[in-house]
Amino acid sequence: MSAKSTIIRDLPTVTAEMRCGAVFELMRQYESGPAFAVLDSADWPVGLIARHALLQALAHPVTYALYENRPVRLLMNRDPLVIEAEDTIDRVSERIANDHPDAVDDGFIVVEDGRYLGIGTVLALLNSSVQNARTQIAELEVARTVAEHANQAKSTFLANMSHELRTPLNAVLGFADLLATGTAGPVSDRQAEYLRDIQSSGQRLLDLINDLLDLSRAESGRLDLVETRVDPTCLIEEVQRMLAPRVLGADIVFATEIATDAWVTADERKLLQILMNLATNAVKFTPSGGSVTMGAELQDDGGMLLWVRDTGVGIPSEELETVMTPFGRGREAMARQIEGSGIGLALTRVLVELHGGHLFLESAPKQGTTACAVLPAERTLQTKNEDQEQQQLSAGG
Ligand SMILES: Nc1ncnc2c1ncn2[C@@H]1O[C@H](COP(=O)(O)OP(=O)(O)OP(=O)(O)O)[C@@H](O)[C@H]1O
Ligand SMILES: [Mg+2]
Repeated sequence: MSAKSTIIRDLPTVTAEMRCGAVFELMRQYESGPAFAVLDSADWPVGLIARHALLQALAHPVTYALYENRPVRLLMNRDPLVIEAEDTIDRVSERIANDHPDAVDDGFIVVEDGRYLGIGTVLALLNSSVQNARTQIAELEVARTVAEHANQAKSTFLANMSHELRTPLNAVLGFADLLATGTAGPVSDRQAEYLRDIQSSGQRLLDLINDLLDLSRAESGRLDLVETRVDPTCLIEEVQRMLAPRVLGADIVFATEIATDAWVTADERKLLQILMNLATNAVKFTPSGGSVTMGAELQDDGGMLLWVRDTGVGIPSEELETVMTPFGRGREAMARQIEGSGIGLALTRVLVELHGGHLFLESAPKQGTTACAVLPAERTLQTKNEDQEQQQLSAGG
């Protein structure tokens, strides 16, 4: 919005030689203006005569006699703020604040194409700013609604698409399984090997589709937690069991360091997925001969810290943020052609945040990585023993 919107247009102008008494009379007829512009013969502003300056000089009988017949140039401000009609409101505000505080009371002169246009006031300036803000808020509101609709459309698309993809994929996996078990007749070793490829690739695709669907659901706030009392130690042991074949194949030492027996209130399936994603990364990005350790401990504030530490390739600091975003993969992962699509950490972060917690990585190239998922203190339950005692007590009472 430009300064034009701040102008009072119907105010008369005066000349520098006009008598103060005459200008005073004129001003009494125009209550709305804080000042008149003083123009030269070429209609160019040479000063501003403010209402209060004129009143001050003419209000007293003695000074009235002194100034009544004197030219108004004696009382005018010779260096008023003059702005272009096209100046922005922000620019005008800036000039008032920096060079012309007098304009707050007296107003300022607005010119256009070298011609006087009118007197601007700070009150009108404020009004325009408010309108500006209102317009911007309305525009933002529209943009937000559009974005929300687009997000909704994306989620619906993903949900439908996933369904369409999952149905035939499950059939592919089912038939591959049927063939592999020999139900449809004997298969050669080579055929069995191809069937295993079909199964593992199909499973990877299915996992990816499910992850994408979860991510989009979580982003649109439609992924709900099914909360129960969960023992983190059990989950860590389950992850260890599930990853055992891979760990063995990769010649990695897998250890645990459980420093608490406290339980947490959490969505068990999602917490398992969080730990599984972090541990899978640790195993995947650790060359043979290395080690992966999972742990649980209580923080000083009572929050539950679940961590996975590895001695693998590590992540450079400039990649720590991008690897957490959807499809963000590190240079090392791509250079070594390590399988993956970059969804795991993004989904893991969303799942941890859904629990009110936060996920962070500590890492350096070749130094290994520690991934930490912190659940807030209000999710931590009493220790197992206390918990059982309490249950027994309440059962007895
Ligand atoms: N423990 C780790 N050590 C080294 N780099 C890691 C580790 N965990 C994650 N990264 C880096 O972060 C990137 C993103 O991880 P993320 O789990 O999101 O994706 P991914 O494992 O590549 O694929 P996906 O999990 O979808 O199968 C990885 O590609 C890798 O570059
Ligand atoms: Mg991963």
